[in-house]
Amino acid sequence: MRAPWMDLLLFCLFLILYCYLATAQTPVDYPTANLSTTWTNTESFHHSVLLLDGSRVRAILFRGSLGPGFACGFYCNDTCTSYYFSVFYVQSNSSTSGTVEPGYWYPQVVWSANRDHPVSYGATLSLTATGDLALQDVDGSIVWNTNTTGKSVAGLNLTDDGNLVLFDANRSVVWQSFDYPTDCLVLGQRLFQGQQLIPSVSSTNWTAQKGLFSLQVKDDGFFAYAGSNPPLAYYVRLVSINDAYTGRRYARFLNGSLSFFISSVDPSDPDGVIPIPRASSAQYMKLMSDGHLKVFQWRKYWLVVSDPFSDYIEECDYLMACGRNGICSGNQQCSCPVSRSAGIPYFRAVNDRQPNLGCSEITPLICNAIQDQTFIELEKVRYFDFVADMKSVDSETCKQACLNNCSCKAALFQYDSESSSGDCFLPFELFTLINADQEINRKTTIAFIKVQNVRSPPSASKSRSNLGVILTFTIGSVLFLIGVIGFLINITRKRRRDTQMEECIGEVPGLPNRFSYEELKTTTGNFNKKLGEGGFGAVFKGTLEDGSTIAVKCLEGLGQVNKSFLAEVQSIGSIHHVNLVTLRGFGAWKAQRFLVYEFMSNGSLDRWIYHGDREQVLEWKCRKKIILDVAKGLAYLHEECRQKIIHLDIKPQNILLDSDFNAKVSDFGLSKLIDRNQSQVMTTMRGTPGYLAPEWLSSVITEKVDVYSFGIVLLEMLCGRKKFDRSQPEESWNLLDVLQKSWEQGTLQDMVDKYSEDIKTHSSEVVDMIKVASWCLQYDFTKRPSMSTVVKVLEGVMKVESRLDYNFTDPRLQNAAVEEEKDMTQLMASVLSGPR
Ligand SMILES: *[C@@H]1O[C@H](CO)[C@@H](O)[C@H](O)[C@H]1NC(C)=O
Ligand SMILES: *[C@@H]1O[C@H](CO)[C@@H](O)[C@H](O)[C@H]1NC(C)=O
Ligand SMILES: *[C@@H]1O[C@H](CO)[C@@H](O)[C@H](O)[C@H]1NC(C)=O
Ligand SMILES: *[C@@H]1O[C@H](CO)[C@@H](O)[C@H](O)[C@H]1NC(C)=O
Ligand SMILES: *[C@@H]1O[C@H](CO)[C@@H](O)[C@H](O)[C@H]1NC(C)=O
Ligand SMILES: *[C@@H]1O[C@H](CO)[C@@H](O)[C@H](O)[C@H]1NC(C)=O
Ligand SMILES: *[C@@H]1O[C@H](CO)[C@@H](O)[C@H](O)[C@H]1NC(C)=O
Ligand SMILES: *[C@@H]1O[C@H](CO)[C@@H](O)[C@H](O)[C@H]1NC(C)=O
Ligand SMILES: *[C@@H]1O[C@H](CO)[C@@H](O)[C@H](O)[C@H]1NC(C)=O
Repeated sequence: MRAPWMDLLLFCLFLILYCYLATAQTPVDYPTANLSTTWTNTESFHHSVLLLDGSRVRAILFRGSLGPGFACGFYCNDTCTSYYFSVFYVQSNSSTSGTVEPGYWYPQVVWSANRDHPVSYGATLSLTATGDLALQDVDGSIVWNTNTTGKSVAGLNLTDDGNLVLFDANRSVVWQSFDYPTDCLVLGQRLFQGQQLIPSVSSTNWTAQKGLFSLQVKDDGFFAYAGSNPPLAYYVRLVSINDAYTGRRYARFLNGSLSFFISSVDPSDPDGVIPIPRASSAQYMKLMSDGHLKVFQWRKYWLVVSDPFSDYIEECDYLMACGRNGICSGNQQCSCPVSRSAGIPYFRAVNDRQPNLGCSEITPLICNAIQDQTFIELEKVRYFDFVADMKSVDSETCKQACLNNCSCKAALFQYDSESSSGDCFLPFELFTLINADQEINRKTTIAFIKVQNVRSPPSASKSRSNLGVILTFTIGSVLFLIGVIGFLINITRKRRRDTQMEECIGEVPGLPNRFSYEELKTTTGNFNKKLGEGGFGAVFKGTLEDGSTIAVKCLEGLGQVNKSFLAEVQSIGSIHHVNLVTLRGFGAWKAQRFLVYEFMSNGSLDRWIYHGDREQVLEWKCRKKIILDVAKGLAYLHEECRQKIIHLDIKPQNILLDSDFNAKVSDFGLSKLIDRNQSQVMTTMRGTPGYLAPEWLSSVITEKVDVYSFGIVLLEMLCGRKKFDRSQPEESWNLLDVLQKSWEQGTLQDMVDKYSEDIKTHSSEVVDMIKVASWCLQYDFTKRPSMSTVVKVLEGVMKVESRLDYNFTDPRLQNAAVEEEKDMTQLMASVLSGPR
């Protein structure tokens, strides 16, 4: 504790300094502090500023710069009864003379030392002579410290990046706030495996909400978890990684999104040295108390610029969208579970006006009163990607297991529509259930929510026999109920099967629009405007009533494919990404199946890239955009969808361009949905010769086959020719031979498309891109980058692997390329209707 005169002295010093600064107009900038310094959270503090939104900051350190900059100090909001020692963004403003002043409007807190233990007015922060940084409340209790006594700390520094650092005499880091992330990441900050972001309870209560949401980095990607018993991943972003890579995994927040790195592998980011975009685009990422991840950016005020999870999951998918025991349907419509058979209400909304707060049991479950417990049955629900507690059991066993375990709150039973046994999950706490009208991959989940019936209070005077009667009666009725429920399930299941067997495809809610044959005939003018003919059948242009144009793909000769067709439509229809062609609907008539896509007015990429038969030369800027678009589309299919999707037939014909030359990947007809993390062994070769990866011959198919095909497409775009081109001199027929020779002779620039002046003027960029293509074309598929890595390289945040193998050609594949003209129709048709 300091003597009062010291406070006064300090105050005077501050005052003098402040006046001096105000008159001399030198930049206000105080980013470091020395040992033996104490700051008290009172009015005497310099730069104590009350802000427009009711919050107050007292800056201890401030790194002045034009635009938003970092400061650290005491922060409070609203009634200001509790203060946090925090690092926050302030918007500094510049006066005419170029002086920088902290402006502080709407400070954005990005880190707090004591969010679980706020302090009061009058608390002190001290950097002791022994090198400990400690926060002491007015009552004298130490609420937080860095435990760095005796570690040769020389001073405190708030870095440009917003990291609060205790450094030693050698200026190396002894302690840093980046090692203790709270709920935010600032630009360039890394979240290592083992660390996690945990949101606050609410925007007004900053206590860490442990156990509900968290963002973590794992071996193979990053995961947002919800719940703790067990944790359920509500957002997953997998990254394909060669198993041989060891090293610390981390996510780094770079320009609007999280990127995944491995410390020892990524040559471009060994120590996180990627330059970070500075002040003009100040941004930070925050895990909000509702589980959303939001990116905030300074654009004259703080704005949410993206919500990365919501681009991929729906509102209902946030574990607590409708609170505990709630049911979420559509776009976050919340309701409480009701029992359809009995008229007894078991749940009521916690708050009638705010149904999203969840539902509570009217009669709580009583542990030793199993005989009075029943289930509310909810058909067709979804509950995240739960891990089964029991596999291959029937629904009765599942329910019984829940009854037998006191802490079980519900029995979730997921079964394939073809069998009566399935997976059983017994959660100890029930978050929001999602109403899923449509089946997911032919799987249906039924939720049996355990509820307690009201029972007359057990009275001591009741005779044993009486109890016995009650017991027999209740057990009897429970059994009867179970029997009835089982009977009902059987009936509904049978009925479901029957509908599926119908010749016409029944209504499937949640699917893309269903068009009747008549409608399709009208919209396409009786199928008279043919856009093209693919392996599966013809594509026609059509116009809907609302004036939008569509492309109708007719699939022919598929035979008895009701189910797989529906599955196909369902999986395609649920995939949305700006770089993937949207499926707008489907139709069926006799043996014909139709897929209705959005119309892409500039057709497919092959019309634009080959010298000799291209409609128009695409400028370099445009080509670059197309390349990035395709890479993003594929990265989405591979790594960001619920299920990993391998396209298997990437070629220019399957890359479509809209009127603004935005590229979208089309034709998932050949793609096969496979489970995450599983490479599939396939028996038939599919795809298009010329674009096929060498491992097709060895039958180990991973998403890297798409990376290879992408590499070929990329090379074709850069060179303006087809991979196999007989109009060239014989030794150059195969573009890969040319590539290999060019690497060996160091003449990559000679490969650049010669027939475009614009491309030639960018030849060094094009050569860099040829290197990207070469990486994608590595013969050993494990050496090829993942599509998300390609995106990073194209965006300039990563470099191309420098150790490339230049032996691109394989004699066996060349043969395949020669057979380019061979008719693939049969193969494709068999693939489309093949088993899934
Ligand atoms: C810290 O101490 C050094 C050397 O004693 C001095 O030059 C510097 O101005 C001090 N910094 C602050 C913020 O007081
Ligand atoms: C401060 O509190 C007010 C009122 O509760 C709120 O509107 C405002 O968003 C809060 N500011 C911050 C930065 O949390
Ligand atoms: C900068 O902020 C101060 C308050 O902190 C204010 O008085 C001054 O007018 C601002 N200057 C400009 C140029 O906005
Ligand atoms: C310092 O040590 C105490 C007790 O070991 C611990 O509770 C506290 O979290 C540590 N503080 C930091 C910042 O690591
Ligand atoms: C404080 O951090 C900045 C980086 O933001 C660095 O340039 C500076 O040298 C550091 N100061 C000390 C005293 O370590
Ligand atoms: C600073 O570095 C020197 C030489 O590397 C070393 O001898 C010394 O112990 C270091 N000092 C601290 C405080 O780490
Ligand atoms: C903040 O939330 C925590 C955890 O839910 C609770 O214990 C605490 O009382 C809350 N604080 C205030 C001020 O509401
Ligand atoms: C950051 O991303 C945005 C949008 O993706 C882009 O417009 C901008 O150029 C990027 N900035 C940097 C410095 O990479
Ligand atoms: C309930 O289930 C959990 C996990 O399945 C188990 O650990 C626990 O022992 C069970 N309790 C009883 C009473 O069976």
